[in-house]
Amino acid sequence: MSLDYQVFDPSPCSFPRPRVPVLPRGFAPASTEDAALLRDVPSLSGQGLHFTRGRYALGEAYRRAGLDGYGALLAPAYHCVTMLDPALALGADVLLYTLDSDLAPDPVALDVLAERSAKPVKALLATHFFGFVRDFSWLKQWCYARGIVFVEDCSHTLFTERYQAKGAGWYGRFVASSPYKFLPSADGGWLYAPDAAVLASAVTQPASWLAELRGMKQCLDAARQPRVSPADITALDRQLAVLAKRTPVAGDEQRRQRPAQSSQYQLEAERRAALRSSRWLIGHSSIRAAIQRRQANYRRWLQAVTSLPNCHPLYPELPEQVVPYMFPLYIAHPMPHFYWLKQLAVPVWRWDEMAVSACPVAADYRLHLLHLPCHQSLSDDEMDWMVAAVGKVLRLPVAGALR
Ligand SMILES: Cc1ncc(COP(=O)(O)O)c(C=O)c1O
Repeated sequence: MSLDYQVFDPSPCSFPRPRVPVLPRGFAPASTEDAALLRDVPSLSGQGLHFTRGRYALGEAYRRAGLDGYGALLAPAYHCVTMLDPALALGADVLLYTLDSDLAPDPVALDVLAERSAKPVKALLATHFFGFVRDFSWLKQWCYARGIVFVEDCSHTLFTERYQAKGAGWYGRFVASSPYKFLPSADGGWLYAPDAAVLASAVTQPASWLAELRGMKQCLDAARQPRVSPADITALDRQLAVLAKRTPVAGDEQRRQRPAQSSQYQLEAERRAALRSSRWLIGHSSIRAAIQRRQANYRRWLQAVTSLPNCHPLYPELPEQVVPYMFPLYIAHPMPHFYWLKQLAVPVWRWDEMAVSACPVAADYRLHLLHLPCHQSLSDDEMDWMVAAVGKVLRLPVAGALR
């Protein structure tokens, strides 16, 4: 099946590399306090399958759900292309269901899509976006009643063999996660099934020793990347004054049709196991530090944007059990605010390449919803710098800035 994508191509803008890593780096070893934290969490050690990324875990789940050229996947309209890629690689149809402004699935839209699908719907993917774990029991029932396999997407939740964020992994026949997004490993996707029998006979190929060495080097290089300093905060006003005088160079907005998976999904990596070093890091890093620092940094962001114009946080409350992946911030004027943040080398992610759907929220969030880092290895200076940059940029009046 070919899908239409709306794509933002940033190449004309020449954005610099982000000055702060979007994902964690370094190594904070587990301590005795971790042991206390983990006492009440079931250890799933030795269960499931390790892949290099969550997308390949999803691929295996889709395949085992029976997805092929004769079936269809229901997937969220707001998505990263790697959530759809594995289904497209299998030749399946992908039908995008509508989400509300909180990114919760719309049950009415699901009914309509399932009824109208030209091919039998074999699997449904539902995501706990940004670590905010949802009660998907109704969706589990909905799938069960229709003979559809529920694939639970825990890519944005802390979900590993050692620790599962509360509520995550409770619903899916298959549960796919991306531990490398939470802990400082070079790679790491994990596929878990509460009924281990459904993963029976699955095998992955171990990584080569050269790949292991490269992975270790990648982790060491990331840990050594220079940090921002208080002087960088002082420099922001001057940098912004220069930027605001220039006419911003817009990126290219394109509509592209793609007959199959994107280049971010490599067929030869489908059965490759995660690096041994990644599994070791994921198994020995401090979970407690990850949870505490992420929550503290999320709250810091919340506080920083409370009275900021031109934006609002997607989730203005942080429930105690949530381990946030990123801080999702809605901005009213991507041009020029997103552009300026990127020019300042602030690490901003956005899903600006997305398959086109009938969902107005997905269409809106594609350019307006920023994903800002809140991970545990951000230093105080890095948080201060990002908070200052976002504050200064979003306070700049748009019309004045474009003069
Ligand atoms: C919600 C979600 N699910 C799945 C994936 C695929 O994860 P990975 O990057 O581990 O392949 C992503 C990728 O960013 C994602 O954001």
